[in-house]
Amino acid sequence: MGLRFKETVQAVTPPLIYDAMQRWWWNRAAVGPVGGEPLDAEGAALGHREAVGGLWDQIGQLQLDFLLQQGLQPQHRLLDVGCGSFRGGVHLIRYLQDGNYYGIDASADLLRAGRECELPRYGLTDRTLHVLCNDQFEFQRLGEGFDIALAQSVFSHLPWNSILRCLVNMGKVLSVEGRFYATFFHDPGGRHRISPLVHSPGGITTYPDRDPYHYELDVFEDLARRAGLSVQFWGDWQHPRNQQMLVFRRASAR
Ligand SMILES: C[S@@+](CC[C@H](N)C(=O)[O-])C[C@H]1O[C@@H](n2cnc3c(N)ncnc32)[C@H](O)[C@@H]1O
Repeated sequence: MGLRFKETVQAVTPPLIYDAMQRWWWNRAAVGPVGGEPLDAEGAALGHREAVGGLWDQIGQLQLDFLLQQGLQPQHRLLDVGCGSFRGGVHLIRYLQDGNYYGIDASADLLRAGRECELPRYGLTDRTLHVLCNDQFEFQRLGEGFDIALAQSVFSHLPWNSILRCLVNMGKVLSVEGRFYATFFHDPGGRHRISPLVHSPGGITTYPDRDPYHYELDVFEDLARRAGLSVQFWGDWQHPRNQQMLVFRRASAR
């Protein structure tokens, strides 16, 4: 779909119907080899890199480096939760065996920019990947038995009832020994902090009740228990904005 055509359709279509059309298009095209030409200059200036927080190269490479340290192997099936425009995805897709990358995101526009702009730029248009546009964490629509899952800078934007939905559904698709890594802004205060918190490095201000959120660790312990998972504080993983890492497992796993 050319950009001008897309903009024209968007302008004359009620937002809810347009959104449904985009979801239909993505779900129709969810599984299979990627292709298509790069976005034109106008498309490349969409700002999708900024929309996922910028620091494109640094935070992208960091995701692969961290997962390699955690034992990621090419034959693993990996689920990228809130994959956006594949900032980490481009590195993960290249590393994994063809077909082992699965991504889910709420934004059709970010997925499209990733598919049409970033994959060609990284020489990855011949790769098979599985992508779903969905904001309900319906991972089962992509499959199950995932060895590794990652939600990088996703929980930092979500209220805890949405995180619980994510964890409950993750429990249904994680392999027995699977691990789900998720980043968040930590409130180490030890009591519920209702004032904003400024994080260093990065200088990001977070809040207890609006995006970007901070949480105490025991919130995740409670959410994990409700979802039939366990959670461990992994901590500092060199994120440039001081997001900390959690690792969830099935409660029955050791
Ligand atoms: C800060 S971006 C991070 C994207 C990616 N993980 C990365 O590191 O570049 C947060 C992403 O979470 C996605 N997101 C937010 N809520 C979501 C939901 N309920 N379901 C799926 N994706 C969601 C957004 O669309 C966005 O792409």
